[in-house]
Amino acid sequence: MVKIAPSILAADFAHLAADVARVGGDVDLLHVDCMDGHYVPNLTIGPPVVAALRPHTDVFLDCHLMVDNPGRLLHAFAQAGADGLSVHVELGDTQALLAEIAALGLRRGLALEPETSYDAVEPYLGQIDLLLVMSVHTGYGGQPFIPEVLSKVRAARGDIERRALAVEIEIDGGIKVANAGQACEAGVDILVSGTGIFGADDPAAAVRAMRAATS
Ligand code: DX5
Ligand code: ZN
Repeated sequence: MVKIAPSILAADFAHLAADVARVGGDVDLLHVDCMDGHYVPNLTIGPPVVAALRPHTDVFLDCHLMVDNPGRLLHAFAQAGADGLSVHVELGDTQALLAEIAALGLRRGLALEPETSYDAVEPYLGQIDLLLVMSVHTGYGGQPFIPEVLSKVRAARGDIERRALAVEIEIDGGIKVANAGQACEAGVDILVSGTGIFGADDPAAAVRAMRAATS
């Protein structure tokens, strides 16, 4: 069964714990979008907010680091209670960062932008737990889904199966009830959805609808 990860980027930051409670108990991860105003123009949240959220939920905190220099933040995210950290392959050689994430006892994720080819992440498949395929350009929620990235999901799914690797594929950006099934058919394990869930009148109902559309 596919996992669902609401992105708190679309939540009300002034009522974060209450909004997280509104998605209900049937979610597998909470996706936390950390942007530094350099890697992307937008500026969001970091370890202090993860630490503030941690006592309010037992759900896996899946932190997506859209930052220029994640190395200096990894320890702070671990201390704050993050469960997984994803860094972007566009930063260059991420081998040391991935090793450090593992040494902190966290799940290692590697993200790629829509225009980055699958070849850029393929060499890392044996060193990661999660491949985060962006289906919008990083920086903002509420953008339209880019279906062309599904060819990268299919390529990754094929290699993961062939090599019997324990790597999950997560898709992030523009995921709604209407396209969730299409992403799953391509081989996605985890659906991230921000405005598709927090933008709904009833976020828990949106999660249920997404589950129904993918089962
Ligand atoms: C974009 C973020 C996404 C974003 C998704 O930079 O990485 O996680 O929150 O939001 P929606 O689902 O609204 O496209
Ligand atoms: Zn994200």
